Amino acid sequence: MCGIIARVGADDGVDRLLGGLERLEYRGYDSAGIAVENGAGLAVQKCSGQVNELKESVHDSQIYGGIGIGHTRWSTHGPPTDDNAHPHTDSTGEVAVVHNGVIDNHTELREELEAEGYEFTSDTDTEVIPHLFERHLEDHPPEAAFREAVRDLDGSYAIAAMVEGVDAVFAARRGSPLVLGVSDDEYFLASDVPAFLEHTDEVVYFEDDEVGVIQPDEVELSTLDGQSIERSSEIVSWDPEETGKGGYDHFMRKEIENQHVSLANSIQGRVGDREPDLDEFPPGSFEDIDSVQIVACGTSFHAAKYGAQLLNKAGVPAQTFRASEYDDSVPVDDGTLAIAVTQSGETADTLAALDRASAAGARTTAVTNVVGSTVAREADDALFIRAGPEIGVAATKTFSSQVVTLSVLAHRISADVAGTAPWDDPAAFYDALERLPDHVESVLDTEVAADVADDYLGSDAFFFIGRGLAYPVAIEGALKFKEITYEHAEGFAAGELKHGPLALVTPQTPVFTVVTGDEDDSTVINAEEAQTRGAPIVAVSTDDHAITDVADAHLPIPETHPDLAGLLANVQLQLLSYHTADRLGRAIDKPRNLAKSVTVE
Ligand code: M6R
Repeated sequence: MCGIIARVGADDGVDRLLGGLERLEYRGYDSAGIAVENGAGLAVQKCSGQVNELKESVHDSQIYGGIGIGHTRWSTHGPPTDDNAHPHTDSTGEVAVVHNGVIDNHTELREELEAEGYEFTSDTDTEVIPHLFERHLEDHPPEAAFREAVRDLDGSYAIAAMVEGVDAVFAARRGSPLVLGVSDDEYFLASDVPAFLEHTDEVVYFEDDEVGVIQPDEVELSTLDGQSIERSSEIVSWDPEETGKGGYDHFMRKEIENQHVSLANSIQGRVGDREPDLDEFPPGSFEDIDSVQIVACGTSFHAAKYGAQLLNKAGVPAQTFRASEYDDSVPVDDGTLAIAVTQSGETADTLAALDRASAAGARTTAVTNVVGSTVAREADDALFIRAGPEIGVAATKTFSSQVVTLSVLAHRISADVAGTAPWDDPAAFYDALERLPDHVESVLDTEVAADVADDYLGSDAFFFIGRGLAYPVAIEGALKFKEITYEHAEGFAAGELKHGPLALVTPQTPVFTVVTGDEDDSTVINAEEAQTRGAPIVAVSTDDHAITDVADAHLPIPETHPDLAGLLANVQLQLLSYHTADRLGRAIDKPRNLAKSVTVE
């Protein structure tokens, strides 16, 4: 997992490379570097730390060049040091390489190369690539040498490489994303579109086992075997403004505040006369299906739980699996629909699970945010959540867009499979869905989360409970909280509290209690059980819910359909996490040890 960028043009491209790296920092931010060719050789500048630090050293060194590559790293092999930062070079300094992925056979290759006298200067798996390239350059011209080097590799990679004195960037992909940006007078190559979206929206996605040679006036795409490929470019619909902070201090804040817009986009045109109207899945699309398995990680897993509960309510057997736990022991047949929920579409655990399901005979569907992502290409079908680019490492608007997209999809599936809907009165759900963006705005207007964050700052731990559709919201609230505040937070099914976790409860452990209005009084009783042991209770509910009579504090949500109330509660919890992290001075958009897209298993 890392972000790579390359730029090929006639004028100086250093600022474009650095700007691209800043936009890719969500993929990793423990070290960064660039290499440029300026007619006087390859200049490499790299360091541990974030792109800001790289910018300073680049500024001091005054390197420039029209053709260059860059990298921002999330360490897998070797700690985040200057030496382990990319680009990596060969022994002569004439080859430079950036890489995202994992080279599985790097140990054997390193031993072989070291035995031949090649000297390594880092602990990374990547460093074998420039040395292999160097070795093949002895017998081949650059393009052929690059191809040979790539052929030597096992594992996953998106690679951009340069050779001194050659006006080209060489690229290859297998299992890690790579996209070409095309504009009138320059080309880009990156792990993701936001890296260059401010310069061009015209893109060509690389497929696995493809090689690209990008020169100032042309691009050649071919298979690893050298067969030429013709592929038309496409225009991405994301607005470049969406990739900036838009005046907010953090991307996360902007992404929370913009949820009414992303939700409206997710729903737009997908609801007919209070029934699903999905272009991708017309009525009857799922007639052959008899059960559903949803695989996902992290926040996407919580959205998946929401979707599965709706399917179960409609009488469709549906299970959720943490993708990393989905293995061959799970029974699958050709009546199984496997749905992968993944914002990025690149999460390795989720892709592996989908692969397993497909190999076992399941039909596969991706629910993702990123057009052109690996999951969208590998699944039989894809449904896009249309949340727009999400840059903050903490998933916010993509969770709510996943939930509403899965709700409509769950209705389509249940109508086809069982002739049912998840709701006795679908019209009531769709009326509320239409009003959801307005309701989100009214939650944002309440402005109470900051005060609640202040009140409980310094607590020993933070617990989140909920039942039914409030349970995925409780565990999502806890994940968000721990991810960006670094404080201990746990989410529990409300009824489970008394089966063990209650031992953790003290006056120093606020219990955020999420209720949707659809449950009986049990959740209130569970909150009282915690309160009796001294824990402060914070209700996340409508104003008139019985939990407010018990609670010490309140994060209010407007009246809505009970199956959408959890989404509104989640917005309050996102704000709570945000304000707490802000008070604690955390790196909100780039929390320690994490990266947005986890492309390693
Ligand atoms: O891109 P994905 O939705 O597949 O990512 C899955 C998780 O890595 C992700 O949701 C992670 O848990 C978030 N950082 C949570 O905010």
